[in-house]
Amino acid sequence: MLFDEQMTVGDIVLRHPETARVFERHRIDFCCGGQVRLAQACERAGLDGAAILEALEIAAKEIGAPRHDVSKLPTASLIATIIHQHHDYLREAMPRIQAQMAKVASVHGEHNPKLRSLEPAVSELCETLAKHLDAEERVLFPALLAGGPALVIARELASMVEDHLAVGAALRNIRALADDFVVPEWGCTTYRLLFSGLAEMEADIHLHVHLENNVLLPRFAKAS
Ligand SMILES: [Fe+2]
Ligand SMILES: [Fe+2]
Repeated sequence: MLFDEQMTVGDIVLRHPETARVFERHRIDFCCGGQVRLAQACERAGLDGAAILEALEIAAKEIGAPRHDVSKLPTASLIATIIHQHHDYLREAMPRIQAQMAKVASVHGEHNPKLRSLEPAVSELCETLAKHLDAEERVLFPALLAGGPALVIARELASMVEDHLAVGAALRNIRALADDFVVPEWGCTTYRLLFSGLAEMEADIHLHVHLENNVLLPRFAKAS
């Protein structure tokens, strides 16, 4: 067995990133809630720990070749990976999703009034994320790479964790307003693209926050 119920969910994803999709499927938070032990996470979600362990083992063993272990990357490469895989993705995805959202809310808002609440929720999330990415790239990451000042690192890490919690709450609200991203049978193509885009963005943000909270932050939290 690769895992046991006493391991934290963040550690499980760190060791085998493929397990993230098992946690996504069962709505177990492995990014902001990464320090929670698997047993406790399953109990909170009303899930059978043994069944989840089995699903995790299967997911991890599906890997063909040994995985590139991101937790061993030097900090400069880890930060570059975060920017190129996750920040760049968000900067491309957010305007597209917002444009689709505006169209779907105006065309179908009468048929599904939840879309009218979804639109400002998505805009607010995108605004928060845009500021958050800029703060990481302009202040936090350069300070981490330069090794200081310690006060700036401590302040910016605290603010990063706080932002991540707010983003997590916004994503849960968006998922609820979007009915778990299930498109009604009358939904048009833009509606489908919007919901699949929102689901993809949610999964990407979970991995992104996992890298920042569970890989990057522990390298500096003790020193700051
Ligand atoms: Fe980030
Ligand atoms: Fe972040």
